[in-house]
Amino acid sequence: MSVPQQAFLRDAMRRMNMTRDAFANRIGVSRRALDTWLLPDGSQESRAMPEIVERFVSEIAGRPERDVNYTQSVDTTHTGSLASQLSREGKPQLLSVDQFSRDAVEALFRVADIMQPIAQRKKISRVLEGAVLGNLFFEASTRTRVSFGSAFCRLGGSVCDTTGFTFSSMAKGESIYDTSRVMSGYVDALVVRHPEQGAVAEFARATNLPVINGGDGPGEHPSQALLDLYTIQREFSRLGKIVDGAHIALVGDLKYGRTVHSLTKLLALYRGIKFTLISPRALEMPAYIVEQISRNGHVIEQTHELAAGLRGADVVYATRIQKERFTDESFEGYTPDFQINQALVESVCKRDTLIMHPLPRDSRPGANDLSTDLNHDPRLAIFRQTDNGIPIRMAIFAVLLGVENQVQHSMRDAAWRPPAYLGPDDAPFHGVD
Ligand code: ASP
Ligand code: CP
Repeated sequence: MSVPQQAFLRDAMRRMNMTRDAFANRIGVSRRALDTWLLPDGSQESRAMPEIVERFVSEIAGRPERDVNYTQSVDTTHTGSLASQLSREGKPQLLSVDQFSRDAVEALFRVADIMQPIAQRKKISRVLEGAVLGNLFFEASTRTRVSFGSAFCRLGGSVCDTTGFTFSSMAKGESIYDTSRVMSGYVDALVVRHPEQGAVAEFARATNLPVINGGDGPGEHPSQALLDLYTIQREFSRLGKIVDGAHIALVGDLKYGRTVHSLTKLLALYRGIKFTLISPRALEMPAYIVEQISRNGHVIEQTHELAAGLRGADVVYATRIQKERFTDESFEGYTPDFQINQALVESVCKRDTLIMHPLPRDSRPGANDLSTDLNHDPRLAIFRQTDNGIPIRMAIFAVLLGVENQVQHSMRDAAWRPPAYLGPDDAPFHGVD
């Protein structure tokens, strides 16, 4: 079975680091033709790429053709090294984005592209049939817990959950070491979220199973950063941009926001990024992260001026104030004027600026989080982000459990049909482009 042409073409563009326009130009076809080849199979306007184009793309991108060997050669040349990067002390674990090189990120994205037909519910797979995931969440979560669980189930596995300390025997004083070792006898992989930085690494030391950090206090949230970057790359592909040279404005609680810690480090693997870090004084990005990303010719600007900081940004990444982590900081300096809303976006952002947020956003009256008045604005990419959590998390499981070679061959048609658009306000290109 050959790899889908969409995954094949996205891989080629990523390898050549080209926008869609530049790539269409390079292969001598119109942008319109390329766009129709990138549409998901089954959509009305999708077209098959001619064989001669496929051969030419293989040649210039240094890739094998889309036959059976494609997936295998992706795996041996790239996913092989990816599997080793996704291991710590010889164990398959994803604890920090520091484990990634740019090549490894892009190899993971190739696996995620292959997962897309499953994420879009056109195909099903049972490669993880019989495997059980343990989801240990000691902090509130909707997305991370459910999407990791859903990703595991969509690959044929099943999930056991425990949520909060109250319903875990840690409430009776059980240690992380004992909990982790006990769970290892019950499940085949663990996703852990914990309020203390470093606690997930402690779980990982007490087991030889794959462990994924689902958020460790103010530390990191690596799978969120991977799905954020995957979203940026896919959106940029539609908008004719590449990640190198992009202007990314990160807004809000940069001190305790673990998603921005992971995302800035991941983006720093690219070239010439302009980071604008916009926060109240009390919630600035930790110095160790600023220091870590101050390489590779990146420009880093730190400001407390929201409107001025957003000007010219390709991506505005807003975050929620992590009140649950506050010790002695006050909210001083963080007024509703700091909110990102339609009026501000209209006055300072570009027509193609992406508005992102890891979610949840606080939508209660008086909260100064990302405003709901942007819900109809197609620049708002928050639900495209959450949807992308599924292929990314499936790819992480596939690599950590060593089944990434088998996914393509395992796919069968799904028997049911989801709605064409999942949400009432989804942009016309949501899930299609
Ligand atoms: N859900 C994200 C996290 O757990 C962001 C947030 O909660 O504000 O880090
Ligand atoms: N983005 C995120 O981690 O969401 P949850 O806290 O709901 O898992």
